[in-house]
Amino acid sequence: MQTDQPRKNTANSPLRIGTPGSPQATRVMLLGAGELGKEVIIALQRLGVEVIALDRYPNAPGHQVAHRAHVIDMTDAAALRVLVEKERPHLIVPEIEAIATDALAQIEADGAATVIPTARATQLTMNREGIRRLAAEELGLPTSPYAFAQSLDEMKAAIARIGFPCVVKPVMSSSGKGQSVLRSDADVEPAWNYAMAGGRVNHGRVIVEGFIDFEYEITQLTVRAADPQTGETQTYFCDPIGHVQVAGDYVESWQPQALRPAALEKSRDVAAKVVTALGGRGLFGVELFVRGDDVWFSEVSPRPHDTGLVTLATQRFSEFELHARAILGLPVNTSLRAPGASAVIYGGLDEAGIAFEGVAEALTVPGADLRLFGKPESFVKRRMGVAVATGADTDEARARAKLAASKVRPVSAK
Ligand SMILES: Nc1ncnc2c1ncn2[C@@H]1O[C@H](COP(=O)(O)OP(=O)(O)OP(=O)(O)O)[C@@H](O)[C@H]1O
Ligand SMILES: [Mg+2]
Repeated sequence: MQTDQPRKNTANSPLRIGTPGSPQATRVMLLGAGELGKEVIIALQRLGVEVIALDRYPNAPGHQVAHRAHVIDMTDAAALRVLVEKERPHLIVPEIEAIATDALAQIEADGAATVIPTARATQLTMNREGIRRLAAEELGLPTSPYAFAQSLDEMKAAIARIGFPCVVKPVMSSSGKGQSVLRSDADVEPAWNYAMAGGRVNHGRVIVEGFIDFEYEITQLTVRAADPQTGETQTYFCDPIGHVQVAGDYVESWQPQALRPAALEKSRDVAAKVVTALGGRGLFGVELFVRGDDVWFSEVSPRPHDTGLVTLATQRFSEFELHARAILGLPVNTSLRAPGASAVIYGGLDEAGIAFEGVAEALTVPGADLRLFGKPESFVKRRMGVAVATGADTDEARARAKLAASKVRPVSAK
């Protein structure tokens, strides 16, 4: 399987974008079409790209704004391959971790399409063991102490070395699923059982991490994009994003998070090393823990990060626009426009086809804006929208974003 590649953005042959729907179209396939994918698609649409969106259920947020939409189990390598051969995308852009990454590696090896940022990056980051060993053992970056375990006995031995408090996570999971903080022996067995129940694919393997008593945790959005002068890939940094996580899910974020100069320098150094090792082009969300001048690498998304929704309000170009530009070989600008914040709007009820009230009130909050994702089904704890706001400083912006989010009331439409 061979497809024509979009022209590379080098000094000699500038990138061209064809007309969507024509044989010359620049085609991008999104693997995952949730709220983050939807914003990437909108950014690509604005640049005249033809977009094909995949998700596991119909009418996903990104399906609603793409040229074509498909419903597919993205962990099914054969099904994925069939769709890629049918749609012949130039670029394949994963939005989620649970994908048949072996199929992506094969597609990349065949030269059938470019996988963003690289197939290897998607393989390493879908498994906590891959990315942790790369960061700590190959790159020598500071991380929490850690060990892997394959059984309850192995986990007990790991905890004996690492000590309490510690955190246990399935190696394949996201959004805090199957994850617990352990403070004493009484927590050990429940944590193992919870991890076994909460893993994405039950690999029976967990990571035990020493608990980092951080002052704050940040997302360092980092972009690998073409330098417009040379065409070479350069690393660009956004301002740090601070955030609050509850039960493994982000509820609030703000930008910029002020860091001491030494911590900022270390954050960027860690981020640069990780994204350079993962390679390719695109935006990455590097998750870091910070205390004083100390920085620990936690994990990285080789794609836009949920806490980066705040950049819809704060940056000259949002993280989604930066991702779109970077993957197309276009120049990026990571500058901040204003301090801002985001606050998540949850479904609050379990029902398909809900409605939202209070939208007008939310939009009367100074500096505030909203995104309602259009998810066809609401769950109590499902992220259905987000309020973003700017302010004179992040304190004001956080208060505004939370106020705006609180005005939006998901209601039954029955
Ligand atoms: N070693 C640790 N020490 C202290 N806190 C931790 C540690 N590991 C995780 N946490 C807390 O739990 C949160 C979720 O952890 P992590 O990012 O590893 O899980 P995740 O399931 O990949 O979450 P997500 O997919 O939402 O990023 C972190 O953002 C942090 O608040
Ligand atoms: Mg995380």
